[in-house]
Amino acid sequence: MQGILAELEARRAAARAGGGARRIAAQHAKGKLTARERVELLLDEGSFEEFDMFVRHRCTDFGMEAERPAGDGVVTGWGTVNGRMVYVFSQDFTVFGGSLSETHAQKICKIMDMAMLNGAPVVGLNDSGGARIQEGVASLAGYAEVFQRNIMASGVVPQISVIMGPCAGGAVYSPAMTDFIFMVRDSSYMFVTGPDVVKTVTNEIVTAEELGGAKTHTAKSSVADGAFQDDVEAMMEVRRLIDFLPASNRERPPVRPFFDDPARVEMSLDTLVPENPNQPYDMKELILKIADEGDFYEIQEEFAKNIITGFIRIEGSTVGVVANQPMVLAGCLDIDSSRKAARFVRFCDAFEIPILTLVDVPGFLPGTAQEYGGVIKHGAKLLFAYGEATVPKVTVITRKAYGGAYDVMASKHLRGDFNYAWPTAEIAVMGAKGATEILYRSELGDAAKIAQRTKDYEDRFANPFVAAERGFIDEVIMPHSTRRRVARAFASLRGKKLQNPWKKHDNIPL
Ligand code: HXC
Repeated sequence: MQGILAELEARRAAARAGGGARRIAAQHAKGKLTARERVELLLDEGSFEEFDMFVRHRCTDFGMEAERPAGDGVVTGWGTVNGRMVYVFSQDFTVFGGSLSETHAQKICKIMDMAMLNGAPVVGLNDSGGARIQEGVASLAGYAEVFQRNIMASGVVPQISVIMGPCAGGAVYSPAMTDFIFMVRDSSYMFVTGPDVVKTVTNEIVTAEELGGAKTHTAKSSVADGAFQDDVEAMMEVRRLIDFLPASNRERPPVRPFFDDPARVEMSLDTLVPENPNQPYDMKELILKIADEGDFYEIQEEFAKNIITGFIRIEGSTVGVVANQPMVLAGCLDIDSSRKAARFVRFCDAFEIPILTLVDVPGFLPGTAQEYGGVIKHGAKLLFAYGEATVPKVTVITRKAYGGAYDVMASKHLRGDFNYAWPTAEIAVMGAKGATEILYRSELGDAAKIAQRTKDYEDRFANPFVAAERGFIDEVIMPHSTRRRVARAFASLRGKKLQNPWKKHDNIPL
């Protein structure tokens, strides 16, 4: 008996050794942790239960039969994050570069199937050279099996991808279909084809960092939702994100104990909006002052900074925030901000996370670049996302809500449940100057007359009361009481039930 137990221990030790001491040292030398070290950090201490530790590949080409490490380059299983169950796979770069074989894929598919069955998030720690070259089409088939599960799991369980090394080819398409992608600065890359292929095909000379590093994907391509300093910070931040999310679409988001008075008054908000309507202010200040304990988990912080998206808690419950940022492009909606916010709104709606929308938007950004880039279709994404969302929607207009952007930003007409405005709100088709120049074109030569016309327009429309008279604004609220009003609004909406008409699926303008 002792011998049998010893053999199990020996087999386990061999599996834990991955690609061996030399390759583990190389991984550490790059500032990266091993697949197992990452899992340990991600999960609550001692909670990891591993599956398929002894799975080996079945490839016999290119001399592969001589090298069949237990585990086949991916560590899979489940554990808990602050007591809540998650499934995890962690690719082991020390084994064939974390490349995906048929059996490696089967291991991932197994935990994805279990996550769907049991209703728990999937976290993928990706560190992979893509399809295992020696396995050919078997590896491609493995990828497709994972992709199919990513698609089926979308909107059912949260899927989080962390890119923790070079991820090429197939290794980027599975993350691309998950809800959130995070990267690690200076050690992770994502590209469909690497710099060498790029050079051969297009003659472009580009480094891996420029082509697919964290900066590229968080600030330029928006493929990634955030980047962290190192593996440790990445694991800690993923834990923090999981705390905001429900385990599946069958459950509500978790309610955490809170130590912040929901009726907290913030007198400083009464002077947040400057006297001069063209002067910017930082909308993040309002978000932080509404949130429990000022805790805000921002998504896509580096991309389309004219809109802010992320999670806060109010009375302990998760709320998704979408807010125009007057500090960047005056808070205009454009292609990038519409895409960013639309995807966020759809995530929230899929997982029953109520949405708070903070509005200060002078309209859609004009120009050929926007029109040629399809701002009509991209702007419509956000409009569509808000209009189809059935979760509780609370909107606060702090200043400008002009034109189509007024409609888009969770207006009453898109089934906003509570539509509040600050007394500083200006709800109109456009700003006073632009409106006067169109309405009184013939008087443009007379500066005094135009100034009077502009003032008349401002007096008539630069306020929230025209909209409030029609019931499009439910209440004009004091800025200092925003947290209390918003908290009470969401509290009153806890029993909200709204269903869209049956359909196979909608046809959002992609
Ligand atoms: C098998 C692989 C591998 C792969 C790396 N290795 N990628 N083995 N299949 N795809 C192995 C190496 O042979 C090496 O083994 C070890 O992993 C580490 O690789 P290095 O090259 O030494 O590491 P590094 O210099 O850090 O470079 C990492 C890398 C590079 C950038 C990922 O290895 C690379 O470019 N690999 C190929 C990437 C690729 O073209 N993949 C196929 C994409 S096509 P030893 O024994 O020396 O440790 C694809 C199709 C799917 O994925 C499409 C689905 C839609």
